[in-house]
Amino acid sequence: METEKKRLVVLISGRGSNMGSLLEAAKNREFDGEIVAVISNKASAAGLDIARKAGIAASVVDHNAYQSREDFDAALLSLVASYQPDLVILAGVMRILTPVFVRPLRGKLINIHPSLLPKYPGLHTHERAIAAGDSEAGATVHFVNEELDGGPAIIQARVPILPEDTPETLAARILEQEHKIFIEAVRLLCSDQVNYAEPGYTLANGKALPESGIIYNQSCSGLSP
Ligand code: GRF
Repeated sequence: METEKKRLVVLISGRGSNMGSLLEAAKNREFDGEIVAVISNKASAAGLDIARKAGIAASVVDHNAYQSREDFDAALLSLVASYQPDLVILAGVMRILTPVFVRPLRGKLINIHPSLLPKYPGLHTHERAIAAGDSEAGATVHFVNEELDGGPAIIQARVPILPEDTPETLAARILEQEHKIFIEAVRLLCSDQVNYAEPGYTLANGKALPESGIIYNQSCSGLSP
């Protein structure tokens, strides 16, 4: 008997390449989940067209229409909750979300961030890694808590920083890995191999993960069952 697919809601603000790659992976059954809706806080987000072309419900909750961050977050939460999601995926949301949104979704809310967290939370991660003279950079998928880019890590991919790198070339190298680890994180969550545990741990096959999460390795991707 086929188990019921997890219901996934993806939130975006812009280009939507991570969302597009998750849509493709869902179509190819790379994980046991169905993307039931895509929501953007910006009507101009190019990702909305990608979702609509794929036949996914795509809507906008425009943050400019709300008096406060909390009012926006409450409206967003109520739309998200109407889809009864098992997992809510922040795929390039360029907006700080308050506890009004984050708290009720604890353990179900994940984000992708283009740095080796806990290094470089916030913006301009590629510039900062190059300016610091780091030899490597990367991306992290993590559970979201009330701290900016601060929740427990699920999986992390590392790439080298080359002497000739600009923020753009480094971002492109990292983005390629982002698409891979996002799919892998969603696969692990949909199959319950990875879970969130209070007071703020990621469990993989029942064991607490280290601060970096799973280190993604292309030759043996993710966890063995
Ligand atoms: C990605 O680099 C992601 O890590 C960051 O925002 C960017 C979104 O890119 N949070 P896209 O919209 O998925 O193409």
